[in-house]
Amino acid sequence: MPLRAIVDEEREDEAPWLRWQTLDGGLVFQRPRDSVVYGFGAATGEATRNRATFRVLTQDTLMFGIAGAAFTAHPFFVVRSRAGCVGVLIDTTLPLAVRCEEERVVITPLAGDTPLPVVVFSGTPKEILDAYTMRTGRPFMPPLWALGFHQSRWSYKSQRRVLAIARRMRREQVPCDAIYLDIHYMDRFRVFTWHPRRFPDPERMHDELQALGLRTMAIVDPGVSASDYWVYKDGLAGEMFCKRSDGRVYMGKVWPGETAFPDFSREAVRDWWASHHRALFDRGVSGIWNDMNDPTLKVGVDYDPLREDLLQSGAPHARSRNLYANHMAIATRAAFSEARPNERPFLLTRSGTTGIQQHAAVWTGDNLSTWAHLNEALHRVKNLGLSGVPFCGADVGGFGGRPGKWGAVKLHVPRELMGRWIELAALMPLMRMHTVLVSPSQEPWSFGRRILALAKKHIRRRYRLLPYLYAQLYAAHVSGAPVVRPLWFDDASVPLDVGDDQFMCGPALLAAPVLAAKTTQRSVYLPPGEWFDYETGAPHSGETSVTAPLGVSPLFVRAGAVIPCFRAADTSDLSRTGPLRLEVYAPNAPGPLFGEMYLDDGLSATPGAFRLVRFSGALDRDGMLTLTLHTEHNGFVPPQATLQIAVPERFCRLTGASLDHGAVLQLSTEDRPQRMRIYDVAIDTTQVRFVAVGR
Ligand code: GLC
Repeated sequence: MPLRAIVDEEREDEAPWLRWQTLDGGLVFQRPRDSVVYGFGAATGEATRNRATFRVLTQDTLMFGIAGAAFTAHPFFVVRSRAGCVGVLIDTTLPLAVRCEEERVVITPLAGDTPLPVVVFSGTPKEILDAYTMRTGRPFMPPLWALGFHQSRWSYKSQRRVLAIARRMRREQVPCDAIYLDIHYMDRFRVFTWHPRRFPDPERMHDELQALGLRTMAIVDPGVSASDYWVYKDGLAGEMFCKRSDGRVYMGKVWPGETAFPDFSREAVRDWWASHHRALFDRGVSGIWNDMNDPTLKVGVDYDPLREDLLQSGAPHARSRNLYANHMAIATRAAFSEARPNERPFLLTRSGTTGIQQHAAVWTGDNLSTWAHLNEALHRVKNLGLSGVPFCGADVGGFGGRPGKWGAVKLHVPRELMGRWIELAALMPLMRMHTVLVSPSQEPWSFGRRILALAKKHIRRRYRLLPYLYAQLYAAHVSGAPVVRPLWFDDASVPLDVGDDQFMCGPALLAAPVLAAKTTQRSVYLPPGEWFDYETGAPHSGETSVTAPLGVSPLFVRAGAVIPCFRAADTSDLSRTGPLRLEVYAPNAPGPLFGEMYLDDGLSATPGAFRLVRFSGALDRDGMLTLTLHTEHNGFVPPQATLQIAVPERFCRLTGASLDHGAVLQLSTEDRPQRMRIYDVAIDTTQVRFVAVGR
């Protein structure tokens, strides 16, 4: 059957420079020679997809040891050219082979003979992501704690060890919100059980963790141990598992040995799966971590999953393999709704396809502790963001030692690499440190005092910026805009070939991380306009070069930005309830102010229970700086009675006819030399005016 392309007719003429045709059973997109291709989720570790060959097929990559393999499958790409931007969705769950060449993107189905519908979105990058997520689902709004620093390893093998890590986190004063329970919390790796000796009293463990302000995320793999235990027996009796074409239950091999796989494509199976989560939630677990959900049918083996005789809803595996993790995520969300109906869920997943952003955050799977993978961490997060998945991150510090199954042994991670990784990750939407089974300890204090100090500085920076990050997640939730994004997302004038090793975190912060060994200086491209160094307040513009020894990760603030900040405390909740500050990066030349603040109780699922404040105003020609605060939605009363407003030192507040000189805030207490002048105003203030005085 020939393939056919479906286009939204009205938009067809909007991007005449991207043409396509069906050819040899596939789709061929013709793009201009100097255009750049992004997206396809985390398909490869490259910054762009200009030249790459990969599959859109969910798969265990064996620590990126299988060429062209990825954990997630996103058949969506963005082409940027001098003529503008276009987003292209191949609206299918079928696995695809993709070949990106100099002037073409060639897409062929790996299985199935049905047409490949094409949907084209044109407009600004913002409009494209808005339209794309309108069609495929808006990203979920996470609880605030999900944005905190998270600590993980395979595995903290006992409740004693989990508590020791938690106490040390507090002793070292590293802000942290969650500790992960990898497979050893289970009894013989049987899903929905607790190991009786290693974790004899999960309730008590959770009570103690709660007192320290920490939550747990428990791993839940789909593979059910085919042994004498209730989940398996119940699943067999209820016909919950995927079958082979001869009617027998399909058996794979994962951590517990022989395993059966729930057929999540059926609603009854999703409900059944959801109900088992009480074993975790009732013991105190806060969030769920779905792993091996590509699904991995044979652990540690390079096999072709599409050849497996496994049916879902009676259909061949190829038809719904890419959807397996999405369906499992829907089941897990249902578990949250049953057990924690008043809380916003936090689900983390390794696998997923189009639409996964509605249900879960994505981590990029088993990466390596190498400089190459540090770079890839940034590229994968950026391209996931451009594929509609704003909430994502890579294992901080790197997971394994090398590709293939022997990568499960890692003997050493260089300190410098760890330091640079923490610097980068502190601005990623998800910040989770994680490492493989056989590896030295990988916590912030495991690499000596210098790296611990670096980690504290950058994790505290993250906690200070939490309200800013939270507002970006909210913007993503309502418009699909990625949090971490390329420079050209906000500035169309950015040349096609610059800035791939930099990124924007929201519209106001530009990061130029150091991603190579033995580097103390790096060049930075700044889009048109004025920028300020976040640490020193020094102005910069255009192309510049900055000093960046280990411990300094260059971060710039766009002139005019108003950045909401907490005071960094041990947890996101303590930070949320402490002082609230707006840092106003007033331009030096007349220009507008911009920004937004989203506040809520961090957790509640009550619709509308948030406050959204938009900032506007300007520095005018007479040197008057006016900040206007407009409460756009008023469904939440913040715990703070006052708001601190911090402005560059040259400004004093104008109150009637007199000047208030405020107090000078020495930001060195926050590990940065910048000084700002600070004013307390009532939380409901709608306008404040400042004038620059010669001092
Ligand atoms: C997979 C996951 C990894 C986890 C391990 C054991 O390799 O990707 O994060 O630690 O399984 O559960």
